[in-house]
Amino acid sequence: MEALFCPKLGDPTVSVSSSPSSATGLENANPIFLLKNHPIPELDSPTAVRVRIKATSLNYANYLQILGKYQEKPPLPFIPRSDYSGFVDAIGPKVSNFKVGDAVCSFHGLGSFAEFTVVVTAGAIPVTFGTSHVALVHRARLTSGQVLLVLGAAGGVGLAAVQIGKVCGAIVIAVARGTEKVQFLKSLGVDHVVDGDHKNVTQSVKDFLKGRKLKGIDVLYDPVGGKLTEDTLRLLNWGANILVMGFASGEVPVIPANIALVMNWTVHGLYWSSYKIHQPAVLEDSLREILSWIARGLITVHMSHSCCLSEVNLAFSAIRDRKAIGKIVIVFDERNARSKL
Ligand SMILES: NC(=O)c1ccc[n+]([C@@H]2O[C@H](COP(=O)([O-])OP(=O)(O)OC[C@H]3O[C@@H](n4cnc5c(N)ncnc54)[C@H](OP(=O)(O)O)[C@@H]3O)[C@@H](O)[C@H]2O)c1
Repeated sequence: MEALFCPKLGDPTVSVSSSPSSATGLENANPIFLLKNHPIPELDSPTAVRVRIKATSLNYANYLQILGKYQEKPPLPFIPRSDYSGFVDAIGPKVSNFKVGDAVCSFHGLGSFAEFTVVVTAGAIPVTFGTSHVALVHRARLTSGQVLLVLGAAGGVGLAAVQIGKVCGAIVIAVARGTEKVQFLKSLGVDHVVDGDHKNVTQSVKDFLKGRKLKGIDVLYDPVGGKLTEDTLRLLNWGANILVMGFASGEVPVIPANIALVMNWTVHGLYWSSYKIHQPAVLEDSLREILSWIARGLITVHMSHSCCLSEVNLAFSAIRDRKAIGKIVIVFDERNARSKL
């Protein structure tokens, strides 16, 4: 099978090297290395399921992890991981809830950048909607009529947050850079979109709030960090919830505890995949609600680019250069790679 290995840390945008078979002796290879004949993994427990992966997504976290800048640092070499979809290919003798051929989607600790993967049957949830749903619904308890401000709103988790905000009945304000992203967000019915490239973000949000006779922001969804976060704190209401989701800007923002005290703010640090260890039931409930919303057409997964495994360095460049709108997806059947990078 084809599998993408990371034999050493470094810049994954440079190029993908390839070898016909072996995962050994990769010390001198590029940070991303395509093995064309890696062995298909065996079922390793009676409750294991093997999935033939059709598509797996590429997240900002993958980029950071291969650079060596992510909080989880797996031992080298590793096969990167993300959420994926595919079909059950084989099942262990004690598996009763899946059969061969079932369509599945899941999230993997490691190893989804490969044609096959083996998982133990347990709850696992795709990243972007899962993260934003747990943040907005479970942690911030977003309700109808509240004002939600989403930074990085056209990115993977941001776009999910925007859609979840609309489903919850919130008034959604989105910040994204460039005409294409702004137009796309407007087409989703976002109440106010600020182009971070051209406008003074806080002034534009203030003008919108004034025009709608609203006092301020109730929930700040922040996967960006840095100065933008610090500026937008001035827009928050008494009792606001701040969701610290990530630092795509590369800068961890300062949220002054004295102002949080006076304003009765709640600052939530949220690391979605750690719920798998500490509160898996929260993820299972969250997935159920997300799937029901997808089935009812309330939310959709938008993919701006797709590519095959051998072009994954270009996908990492698109993430680095802030070109993705929603998700970038790796597909294992080249005929399905719809948008060339
Ligand atoms: N807490 C969790 O459990 C969790 C889960 C998933 C992801 N995350 C984190 O959330 C962040 C975003 O992830 P994602 O997958 O949504 O990434 P993404 O698709 O690349 O989106 C990131 C967005 O951030 C904005 N941005 C602003 N300044 C940037 C900069 N200097 N460099 C790059 N982007 C910048 C970009 O929007 P504009 O170009 O429009 O400004 C971009 O659309 C990452 O830090 C990731 O690790 C956290």
